[in-house]
Amino acid sequence: MPSPREAPRKLQEALDDAVAKVNKTIERLMPETDLPEARLYEAMRYGVLNGGKRLRSFMIIQTANLFKVDENRSRRVAAALEMLHSYSLIHDDLPAMDDADLRRGKPSVHVEFDEATAILAGDALLTLSFEILSDPATHEDPRIRCELVSALAKAAGGHGMVGGQMLDLMAETEDFDLGTISRLQRMKTGKLMAFACEAGAILGRADPAHRKALMNYAHDLGAAFQVTDDVLDVEGDENTIGKPANQDDAAGKATFVSAMGKEQAKMRAEMLVQQAIRHLKPFEGARASLLKDLALYVLERRA
Ligand code: IPE
Ligand code: IPE
Ligand code: MG
Ligand code: MG
Ligand code: MG
Repeated sequence: MPSPREAPRKLQEALDDAVAKVNKTIERLMPETDLPEARLYEAMRYGVLNGGKRLRSFMIIQTANLFKVDENRSRRVAAALEMLHSYSLIHDDLPAMDDADLRRGKPSVHVEFDEATAILAGDALLTLSFEILSDPATHEDPRIRCELVSALAKAAGGHGMVGGQMLDLMAETEDFDLGTISRLQRMKTGKLMAFACEAGAILGRADPAHRKALMNYAHDLGAAFQVTDDVLDVEGDENTIGKPANQDDAAGKATFVSAMGKEQAKMRAEMLVQQAIRHLKPFEGARASLLKDLALYVLERRA
């Protein structure tokens, strides 16, 4: 039996391992260039390789491991998702959106470069992520590649992350109820996390029930993750969270913290994490223990 202290250490080691491996894959897929458009690649590399916890990568790798998928495949999909996620953050920080000058403890891409370059770097990262998924090196079976492309397009698009970002901007002026805030967060944060687990299941040719269970886990985890992000926005400080604090309140944004208060929001996150863990039941035993630990870590995270 692992001691209670062992789980977090094992999780930390596995998270560190995911960071190192995925960063290496990203470096390889997005090398520096001396072509005339080098500035674009500099901004892209800066926007992806400027830190990042790589939680979504961890979710892909761990989920794929459940089905004994070759890690070279899951790492490529993880790199693709981190590129798309980083594009969403680069655009999220733009003056027209959250107007945040700090990301991952460093100047945001539009501050380090300029606004137009940040827009283009985001665009190119978005496209590159699909190029990677559609490359036979990701999987030799074109049906698997097509499923990955289709799933990511749905998760990232108008009914997914981008739609959630639209609602998030509207949350600054509209008086959204709890159901709408919940939907907004499910779209802007939950969908990409759900893709992470779905991708592992796709690579592993999981049956529909297992695929659904993993996606449900990720949706609840994503919802809890966003609630803690909202809590950290009011509780955290810039040095720890690596991005400006009190952004949501300053923008008058409806979040679970503004709607129900910090303590209730924390209770909601706890409830969501327990719900997420229950979805792992079909994978009971040691196999899914790191995914369970990840869910618990979301409640404790300070960055
Ligand atoms: C930040 O995501 C955006 C949200 C969905 C709250 P992360 O906190 O996972 O960002 P990085 O990749 O670790 O910087
Ligand atoms: C952004 O949510 C989620 C995205 C889809 C980019 P936030 O605006 O709350 O994320 P942070 O706090 O800037 O990381
Ligand atoms: Mg935002
Ligand atoms: Mg933001
Ligand atoms: Mg936030």
